[in-house]
Amino acid sequence: IKQIDLLPCLPGPFGSELSLTLQVQKHLEPFRLSLEKLQDVSARLRKDMIRGLGKHSHHRASVKMLPTFVRATPDGTEKGDFLALDLGGTNFRVLHVRVLEEEQRVLKMDSQICAIPQDIMLGTGEKLFDHIAACLAEFLDSQKLRGQTLPLGFTFSFPCEQKEIDKSILIRWTKGFNCSGVEGEDVVNLLKEAIHRRGDYDISSVAMVNDTVGTMMSCGYRDQSCEIGMIIGTGTNACYMEEMKNVKRVEGEDGRMCINTEWGGFGDDGCLKDVLTEFDEEVDKTSINPGVHTFEKMISGMYLGEIVRLVLLKLTEEKLLFRGCPSEALLTPGSFETRFISEIEEPDSGLENAKKILTKLDLDWDLVDACVARLVCDTVSSRSARLCAAALATIVNRIRINRGLDHLKTTVGVDGTVYRKHPNFSDELQAAVRLLAPKCDVTFLISEDGSGKGAAMVTAVAQRVWACWASPDDLFHCRVTL
Ligand code: GLC
Repeated sequence: IKQIDLLPCLPGPFGSELSLTLQVQKHLEPFRLSLEKLQDVSARLRKDMIRGLGKHSHHRASVKMLPTFVRATPDGTEKGDFLALDLGGTNFRVLHVRVLEEEQRVLKMDSQICAIPQDIMLGTGEKLFDHIAACLAEFLDSQKLRGQTLPLGFTFSFPCEQKEIDKSILIRWTKGFNCSGVEGEDVVNLLKEAIHRRGDYDISSVAMVNDTVGTMMSCGYRDQSCEIGMIIGTGTNACYMEEMKNVKRVEGEDGRMCINTEWGGFGDDGCLKDVLTEFDEEVDKTSINPGVHTFEKMISGMYLGEIVRLVLLKLTEEKLLFRGCPSEALLTPGSFETRFISEIEEPDSGLENAKKILTKLDLDWDLVDACVARLVCDTVSSRSARLCAAALATIVNRIRINRGLDHLKTTVGVDGTVYRKHPNFSDELQAAVRLLAPKCDVTFLISEDGSGKGAAMVTAVAQRVWACWASPDDLFHCRVTL
């Protein structure tokens, strides 16, 4: 287990710092997961994934394993202009995307970011969709696209029970959203109703896409062996190509279908109790959705900063930090942003960044405090990377066994601010995957805007398939598989 060596950055004789280090380490111990523990976590996830795929067991499964109805990947004949909406990450975005057949390229023509204010995130569904429809209208005007009725790919990064590619029922909100009247409803309908309420423009077909699927598809365009999409950003989740014969909830035995695992819900049935720390329990209790998305709350950007804040607070209460005096800022939930973790762990400037951040938080710090804060960040982000690795290893091991292979070579399309921005998250994750899936050779490909271009790609493929078959239902029988 990696540990930042605390002592070299400390001045003076080491005696008192040594005892401090030991006391701090004691508090951080519950975050350190051994290889055996991670293997155990992976085995539990494997069982939950099987439960999620089962015809009769999926209702009770905490890992939802949602069929996405994506079976076909780009074949290079797709073309045209598409609109893409992206809701569920750091920002809400509207994009105009052009797929070029000849060059087999996806071009982002233009895009616009629209803020979703907190009162809309927690208000009524009608308000949310009116806001989305208004942003789209503004974008169409700015692009002079009004009147073109383009097909739309909607990256909606929440767990949805997908009936078809254009019918998607929200199971529940996750991350920071909690709009009333949307859970249990078809999101495509809600969007179309909002557009009709305005009555000043229209859209044609809508394809619903989870961000993991968009990520896999956008990478699949560049690398044919990409069959997993993973997000480690505001939330965390992964999708992968599963054998149809194992997807018991969907008719048909042939080929493969992309399954949105919704692994963020792992542990919601209490099976991770022994892994959770008192800090995770506190984060869950004070979140807007207690008891939901347990695994995500240990891993993703929405929560990591808060975990660190709670640990720092505890160490302060124990008089191991800041001479026992917390500042108002440190006592305020949400004040320790997740990006601070990345900044503090920067190899060269980390300690300097730590000092700046602690000053910004109005804390009376010394060098030892800055080093301890760095150790806390490292411990929390390492656990996140290793838990993610355990989950990803479960998927790659499953794909290998599904195919009866001694050795699997595969590619994972990845996106998300934590993965992209943290200085050593990706290295730690990859190292742990190598240990946990020794018979798999996993390449990681950072997606180029999976939520935007990937959504357009899914829409383009759906259009192609729609054009070939009489009705969207026939997507069921589409044999074009990855
Ligand atoms: C949350 C959502 C999931 C999404 C993930 C990453 O876990 O439930 O659908 O893929 O965040 O954005």
